[in-house]
Amino acid sequence: MSMITVQLGQCGNQVGGQLFSTISNDIDGKQHMVSSKENKEYGDQVVQRFFNRVDGHDIIEARAVMVDMESKVIAKTCLEAKKGGKWKYPDKQQYCQKRGSGNNWAHGYCIHGPNVKETVMEMVQKEAEKCDRLSGFLSLLSLAGGTGSGVGTFINESLRDEFPHSFIMNQVVWPYNTGEVIVQNYNAVLTLSHLYQTADAIVVMENDHLHKICSRLLDIKKISFKAINHVICHKLSSLFLPASSSDDNISQNDLGMILHHLVGHPEYKLLTIRNIPQMSDRSMEFSSFHWPGLLKHLRQMLVADAAMEEGIDWQVNAGDETPRGSVQHNRSLANMLVLRGKDVISTDTSSYLDPKLYTSWTDPELGFSKLIQPRAFNSYEKCAALISNSRSPIRPLNHIIDKAWNMFAARAYVHQYTQHGLNEEDFIDGFVTLEQVLASYKKL
Ligand code: GTP
Repeated sequence: MSMITVQLGQCGNQVGGQLFSTISNDIDGKQHMVSSKENKEYGDQVVQRFFNRVDGHDIIEARAVMVDMESKVIAKTCLEAKKGGKWKYPDKQQYCQKRGSGNNWAHGYCIHGPNVKETVMEMVQKEAEKCDRLSGFLSLLSLAGGTGSGVGTFINESLRDEFPHSFIMNQVVWPYNTGEVIVQNYNAVLTLSHLYQTADAIVVMENDHLHKICSRLLDIKKISFKAINHVICHKLSSLFLPASSSDDNISQNDLGMILHHLVGHPEYKLLTIRNIPQMSDRSMEFSSFHWPGLLKHLRQMLVADAAMEEGIDWQVNAGDETPRGSVQHNRSLANMLVLRGKDVISTDTSSYLDPKLYTSWTDPELGFSKLIQPRAFNSYEKCAALISNSRSPIRPLNHIIDKAWNMFAARAYVHQYTQHGLNEEDFIDGFVTLEQVLASYKKL
């Protein structure tokens, strides 16, 4: 099964470029710990999923369509891929114009969106025709700008109309909490509320969390978007690189299977990904890992709603009736654990079947799924990813709704949106949709 990646705006394009590099570096990795035959099969599967082999050419092509309203980032992303010499973007599958959306969702959605639709959808159609079996789309965007968010929302709606039977998963980058663009929370509310109607799932990644992972776990001193995007792509690859169900060892983690396990109800579409271990190459040389320790830490990251293993609150217990201070244990609707590397088959994961980890109406046997892949990933001898549909998004969602509502109550900057054709009711609809989502998650 193949997946088409749609890269939207500066962030979406930069993340996309890094994603294909992470994946292609991984298939070339030497420390794979399986036989060369198994490694070859794995590589072929990865290529089929993310890349297209072109007859007569050695270099594989990403199954991707790139959209931005400025040409700079797309040009740079294509060039970096080409220079790497392992993969490239397909020719003429890039759409750009001369002017960005000025961090204005309405400009992206109401003006650029309809103008670019026909050409972009032709590109998508062309990409879809290259797939023997298309499982769906992964679209990458940030919530805060104007192009990824506004044009991205419009393109996602067009994808839904033109590919009604394909799955659509969005990966959205949440803005830093403070000090970026004043209207970032408007853009985020408008994007999320619209995507909630079209996407099958939305994977949430917060720049603040990713930044902390870079500084505390990866020991990076000067943190760039490139470093942050490495973390994002480690997370995405740990979910999407081939792995099979531990139940039958056959079912593969294509989009349909992932969604089937994690998004059983249309009210609950927000997913988060936690990984362990994550460390700098230098530290890795001196570390050895055991599954029980890794899985215990990962479980506590879930329970205490922590983005990383460092500084987790061990006082929070699954099943605590009363919150300790403002901390309450995190409950899930569904969890998918993906184990990669050594001894994955015999690893005991029964602690993830604890009913206290789940909301009262979830049967843990149905809410929990486990995928395994004996091939090592990204030089980690053992590594695990936990993809959860849990209460985690409540805090960041609350934050953007509150901030956006305070501005909206004073009608601050609203004219910048209405001048492009958006109405005040469109804002209200956005708030109502997200308040409903929030209320549903609070019931977990
Ligand atoms: P316009 O600039 O308005 O045309 O829209 P755009 O969609 O191109 O904007 P952009 O993607 O730059 O959105 C801004 C938001 O994305 C801010 O929250 C930035 O922190 C974040 N951002 C931009 N580039 C990156 C990136 O490469 N990685 C990450 N993680 N975040 C990014």
